[in-house]
Parts: sequence; C-alpha cells; structure tokens
Amino acid sequence: MSPRSWYLVYGIFLHVIWSGAAKVEFYSSVDSMQDLAQVEQELLNATRSYLETQQQQLNFYRRYVDQIKREHEWAVGQLKLDEYLGHPLHAFRLIKRLVQDWDALIFEPILTNQPREDFRQFSDVLTRDLGYPDQSELQGAIKGLARLQRVYNLSTSDLAGGVINGFSYDSELQWPMANFELGNTKRAGRLLNQILKPEPTHTAQQTRKYLENHEPGKKIQEKNPSWYGNYTRLCQGKRLPEESSGSPLKCYLDGKRHAYFTLAPLQVEPVHLDPDISVYHGMLNSQQILSIFEEADKEEMVRSAVAGEGGKRTVRDLRVSQQTWLDYTTPIMESVSRIIQFVSGFDMAGAEHMQVANYGVGGQYEPHPDYFEVNLPSQFEGDRISTSMFYLSDVEQGGYTVFTKLNVFLPPVKGALVMWHNLHRSLDVDVRTLHAGCPVIVGSKRIGNIWMHSGYQEFRRPCNLTSDSYKSAAYRKSV
Ligand SMILES: *[C@@H]1O[C@H](CO)[C@@H](O)[C@H](O)[C@H]1NC(C)=O
Ligand SMILES: *[C@@H]1O[C@H](CO)[C@@H](O)[C@H](O)[C@H]1NC(C)=O
Ligand SMILES: *[C@@H]1O[C@H](CO)[C@@H](O)[C@H](O)[C@H]1NC(C)=O
Ligand SMILES: *[C@@H]1O[C@H](CO)[C@@H](O)[C@H](O)[C@H]1NC(C)=O
Repeated sequence: MSPRSWYLVYGIFLHVIWSGAAKVEFYSSVDSMQDLAQVEQELLNATRSYLETQQQQLNFYRRYVDQIKREHEWAVGQLKLDEYLGHPLHAFRLIKRLVQDWDALIFEPILTNQPREDFRQFSDVLTRDLGYPDQSELQGAIKGLARLQRVYNLSTSDLAGGVINGFSYDSELQWPMANFELGNTKRAGRLLNQILKPEPTHTAQQTRKYLENHEPGKKIQEKNPSWYGNYTRLCQGKRLPEESSGSPLKCYLDGKRHAYFTLAPLQVEPVHLDPDISVYHGMLNSQQILSIFEEADKEEMVRSAVAGEGGKRTVRDLRVSQQTWLDYTTPIMESVSRIIQFVSGFDMAGAEHMQVANYGVGGQYEPHPDYFEVNLPSQFEGDRISTSMFYLSDVEQGGYTVFTKLNVFLPPVKGALVMWHNLHRSLDVDVRTLHAGCPVIVGSKRIGNIWMHSGYQEFRRPCNLTSDSYKSAAYRKSV
C-alpha cells in the first residue's frame, strides 16, 4: 500500500473512533482520556512510518548522487573535459541527466516531498476535524492539579518528592503551571527558572510560552467560601470536632422493607439520622455495573453543566465531570428502577432518568444542594425529594462524597447505594443536605444518580406540617 492510501485508511479509522464528536473534552473524564492515549498511539505509528519513508527516500537520493558524482569525477579527472564531451554518447548522457534524471529523481521528489504531504494531511485531519485537545484542555488539566493541591493540602515538596501517599508523579513540568493556576505567579516563575537555567532547551520552554499567554488563576486562599474549611477536612477523611451525639450508629440487616429483600436482606449502614443518610451495600454487582456502562456507552458523554442564573445550564469549574442519562426501558435499568423503588418506597413516576457521570483529573463537584427550590423543571411535579446515588466504581484515592454541614464523609464503595432526603416532610428544602464530590486524586470515579420528585409521593411519605416546617423555618433563619 502506498503511504498516501495508508494515511487515508488511518483517517477513516480515526473517524470511526471519534464519530459524531464535534468538540470532545478529554480531561474531565478518564474514559475519554483513554481515547487520547489511543490517538497518541496513532500519532506514534504515523510519525514512525513517516520517518522510515523519508529515510528510504534520502538513502535513494544519496545512492543516486554518489553514482553521478563518480561519473562526473571520472569525466573531469581522467580525460580532458572537451575531449570527453566531444564523444556524442557522453554528451548525450550529460544532457539526459540534466534534463531528465535530475528533475525526475531529485528535484521533483525533494521539492514535493510526498511523505511530508501525506503527513500534513494526516495531521490536518487529526487537529482540525477530530477535535484534537487544545490549550483549554491543558488548562483544564492544570486546574485539576491545582485543585488537588488546594483541597488536599499538598505542599510543593509533596510533589517535588514525587510522591503522594506512595503514588509517583512527574512533577517537574506540571508544577510551575499548577502554581500559576493557583495564582502564585512569582513562585511559578521561580520554579521555571530553576528548570531552564541549567537546561535552556528543556521542554519547559513550552511551559513558559503557556504562562506568557494565559491569565494567572485567582488566588482564592484569601477569601474562601464559608464551607471551605469543612469541605477540605472532610475530603481528607478527617471528621470535624463535635459534641458526642449519643450512641454511635450501628449497621444492620433489613429483610422487611420489601418482599424483594426477604432472601437477601439490605445491608444498611446508617451514617446520619436527621437528616437521614444511609448507605446500602452490595446493591449492584460487577456484571450489572458493566451492563450500565454498556448502556451509557451507547449515549454520548458530555461535560456536566450546572444550573446557573435563570435555570440556564452552564459549564463551570465547580463541576468537572462528564455525564449521560439512561431511561428505565432496558433490562438492567428496569432492575435499577426496582431497587430504588423497593429501597425508598417511592413511586418511580417521580424519578428522573439515571444520570451516569465519570470524573477525570481533579474531577469534582463543589458543595451544592440537589433541590432546585426555584425554577423547578416543568416536566416534573415538585422538587427533588430524594437523591439515590450508586457508586459504580471504587476510587483509588480521593473522590469522597461529603456533607459539609453534617460532618459526614463517604468513601466511594463500588456497588453501594447512598440515599437521603433533600426535603423535609413539609416539602421545605433541607439546607443541611449541602454535599460535594471531592476531587479524584488517583483513579476514575463513576456514579449513577437518580433524583426523585415530590409529586406522586403523597401517600409514600406523608407530610407532617407541624414539626418539620417549624424546624425547617427555624433552621433556615439560623444559617
Ligand atoms: C501501531 O504499530 C504497532 C506496531 O508497529 C502495532 O502493533 C499497532 O497495532 C499499531 N497501532 C495502531 C493503532 O495502528
Ligand atoms: C497543610 O499541611 C502542612 C504540612 O504540610 C501543615 O503544617 C498545615 O497545618 C496543613 N494545613 C491544613 C489546613 O491542614
Ligand atoms: C462545619 O461543620 C460543623 C459540624 O461539624 C457545623 O456545625 C458547621 O455549621 C459547619 N460549617 C459550615 C460553614 O458549614
Ligand atoms: C408529626 O410530628 C410530631 C413530632 O415529631 C409527632 O408527634 C406526630 O405524631 C407527627 N404526626 C404525623 C401525622 O406523623
């Protein structure tokens, strides 16, 4: 196969992998990062093949030139030149070489350089049509690192030493950039100089260009939001000091909640009483989780947006992940729906589709409530009365779910389900349910969320206007 058609096949292959993706975003999901690793493999192959073809061409030119050189030297050395050229055959050979051979064998191929043209086409297809990562991707990844440093209180020396809890990092290059995104421009410059002074041709020159062309991040250490202290402590797996709240909560088996659980009782781990937050362990097995991913793979993952002003959805750094939505029509999703219905007792008519999300480098979701309170979506009755969150993966490090007002942190456990109510029985919002997804340090975090709306649930969770609305109003005044 000629190099040209070979690159064309390449292009088509790439198109299949990237099909339908107008602008993919990679850093916010580990799954799409895997596509990038594949792209780099393609680049490696294509570049290696380009170099080999060029090498073969050069070898050919060299042999041809050597041959001409020998003939030329012989002509001007051995005989008088005019005698040599006086021979009609010699004159013919010189003219033929100049008119035909040099042109066809040297000028034309060197000047057009077909392998280079093919390579250019390949790179055009890659960068223009296929959504190759750009500067904003790099910035997103750097922000992710900066976020890790901030939330987990990792010092520069933690990374200069190259180790976070036993995991190795190559910090030399990323570190000036992370400092830059953290607003430490002076320190970023110093670090960069340390690298570049002894070795001016170091690839950190690219980093310098990056810093010159970007606005530094905002220093947020100075005015952190009020939840910030609780958030970082809980993300680090440290409970906050608090007065003893009576007897500690105990895990128990519950086979009575629904006939469905008679043979395999629910393994309940209550983590908070009021508001009630419980973890139900072993709700999905690996096979079921794989089936969910297979369904999710059929949909397009998009960068998660958050409801902004006036209910408009916008992409912001406060939520860095990718997501898709699954309805309950497939066998696996029917099972999921049954689990939620039987554990919660709610009518699935009020349930949103399940949102499947995947968090990448430094992926997180800052403290937020799940209820809307205002701008309720019109396709559902009432606000989000409860949240059911399946952990679809273990996470090697980080990625806890934390409730910043309740002193609760939950490490993700594959197959477990966390459930809590976002509304009081009075259907007032329960502001204590503010929660967050901590940045992932190592690994890939996958979750499935199902939000239940309060319409249709009148007979499932009767209101108690007196107690809860009173408590809610009092509580809300106090915060
Ligand atoms: C790249 O080349 C290697 C060996 O040269 C081959 O095994 C591999 O399949 C190629 N990868 C792609 C994506 O073409
Ligand atoms: C951050 O870590 C340093 C040691 O590396 C420690 O002295 C400091 O107290 C920590 N800060 C917080 C807020 O945990
Ligand atoms: C931090 O957590 C404590 C409970 O441990 C809570 O009393 C306090 O209100 C929380 N602060 C904020 C700002 O959420
Ligand atoms: C409402 O709550 C109060 C206080 O917790 C309780 O005494 C009462 O029985 C509840 N009423 C209903 C109908 O559940």
